[in-house]
Amino acid sequence: CGIVGYVGERNSLDVLMGGLRRLEYRGYDSAGVAVVDDDGAIETAKRAGKLQVLADELEANPLHHGGTGIGHTRWATHGGPTDRNAHPHLGDEGRLALIHNGIIENFAELKDELLAEGLTFESETDTEVAAVLLGKEYRATGDLRQAFRNTVSRLDGAFTLLAVHREEPGVVVGARRNSPLVIGLGEGENFLGSDVAAFVEFTKRAVAIGQDQIVEITADQVTVTDFTGEPVEVEPFDVEWDASAAEKGGWSSFMRKEVSEQPEAVANTLRGRIVDDEVVIPELASFGDDELRSIRRITVIACGTAAYAGMVAKYAIEQWSRVPVEVELSHEFRYREPVLDEHTLVVSISQSGETMDTLMAVKYAREQGARTISICNTQGATIPRESDAVVYTHAGPEVAVASTKAFVAQIAALYLFGLHLARVRGTLSATELATQLAELQAVPEKLQAVLGEAEKVEQLAHWMADTRSVLFLGRHVGFPIAMEGALKLKELAYIHAEGFAAGELKHGPIALIEPGQPVFVVVPSPRGSANLHPKVVSNIQEIRARGARVIAIAEAGDAAVLPFADEVLRIPLAAPLFEPLLAVVPLQIFAMELAQAKGLDVDQPRNLAKSVTVE
Ligand code: G6P
Repeated sequence: CGIVGYVGERNSLDVLMGGLRRLEYRGYDSAGVAVVDDDGAIETAKRAGKLQVLADELEANPLHHGGTGIGHTRWATHGGPTDRNAHPHLGDEGRLALIHNGIIENFAELKDELLAEGLTFESETDTEVAAVLLGKEYRATGDLRQAFRNTVSRLDGAFTLLAVHREEPGVVVGARRNSPLVIGLGEGENFLGSDVAAFVEFTKRAVAIGQDQIVEITADQVTVTDFTGEPVEVEPFDVEWDASAAEKGGWSSFMRKEVSEQPEAVANTLRGRIVDDEVVIPELASFGDDELRSIRRITVIACGTAAYAGMVAKYAIEQWSRVPVEVELSHEFRYREPVLDEHTLVVSISQSGETMDTLMAVKYAREQGARTISICNTQGATIPRESDAVVYTHAGPEVAVASTKAFVAQIAALYLFGLHLARVRGTLSATELATQLAELQAVPEKLQAVLGEAEKVEQLAHWMADTRSVLFLGRHVGFPIAMEGALKLKELAYIHAEGFAAGELKHGPIALIEPGQPVFVVVPSPRGSANLHPKVVSNIQEIRARGARVIAIAEAGDAAVLPFADEVLRIPLAAPLFEPLLAVVPLQIFAMELAQAKGLDVDQPRNLAKSVTVE
């Protein structure tokens, strides 16, 4: 879910709706706002459906002007996406409004307790329990901060809560446990948001609120305490994103814009980090060379697209540094008692830095004594704060739910890390290192060239708009790309799609091949040393012989695929480990175009949220 809070001179409704628009990627099945109007009354509006439904409602039935307010965009957990279940929820007989991100695990018990006391509920949500409890505590204490502290101390699970009360018209209070919350510091106004995108239009000074902290904002004051009321020192930082980066500009969708920004995303991630043929990552200063030499194993944890970036990097990091790398989905890792010790380095990858599954896995790894590095795209996010060090990808804000530019930036950051490790451990010679770094630096230009060939992919997607099932094959670094291609198609076009390792084909998946079945094949370079090219070309012949319609993604000049492929999409020459960064692009474009041909919303596909802050 996405959360915004505001106190200041502006009409809070405008600030809230603008902020929600930027946070809508976090959930879009309902939205709502509460404003303390100039007469000190709380007015709310909430609607199931996308934010626009709420915007239309507010247009038809405007709220009164007020400088204090909170807003919410929801990804339903408890209770379906209905008007009634949308946030805010009210407490204290309508005198307070509250919004929530996360899950309150003990809500059923609390609700029974409150019902027994004669309090009543309107919705099925866990959130309303917090609102009603806060109301009760406010009645008992007459102090919003104290009431808030009493309330959060009763809640189990993950939550960010924001609340306003009509008796305190210029105040928004918030609390945070395991779900994100960031403060935006303005002049005579202050903001709260799930991430900095909520307020970057107004201020670039921000403070990330720590675990188990409570914040109170007024127009000219920000107070942060722990759950017992002890004041906490805060460290403001400057947001690097500029407001326009989170705007669609002239693009028809965020996804199209973000796909086109991939050359920059990689270039910005590399910028300043390669000096005289060496990788320089000052953020890793807390990892001394001796420590990097003593690592015996790397475990990469991530979900979704980020996990595929990890799988690509596994091949490179192992090849360069000779450190064994395993990649695991965060939610699986956490619950199987993985073997970890101080010689295990756990590298988490998360665009948002908020994915709850990954956050929990990182915390667990630390508890078990592992050292942790986070690869993240969002400043002030929770996962970097919970890790020993962070290497930021500088892809800029990614708004479309399906990840594109963050993926290539993640691979670039992981490659930098792998090359750094190889230098420290002496597993690559200076010349080899220089060659790999030159390859890495050439990626942005090559990405630009791939984008220049988009038209052919677009045509293909339009021809294939009625397709019901698509398979993707790849081998070596092409294997995770095949899976990412399939994921993109599922996410965006709701088409059944699967990615396979090409070598595995004969062990089962080939049974799926029937005449007309479209299969994308990521073809390894014929120049690769492992001689995989002829093997994959044989796989193409095998499926072709059974009637498959083959779309090959092959490097420029690879003529061997021509006799067997129905379509060939070309990518520029690159060393084999660098091909995934290029080969993924036509697959992204294919999924996006096909979804658009089907009339679907590519930025906000059904049932998904960009940053899933529940386990
Ligand atoms: C969600 C999104 C995916 C994303 C995954 C990991 O499931 O829908 O697109 O890849 O989360 O997100 P993260 O922010 O941790 O990279």
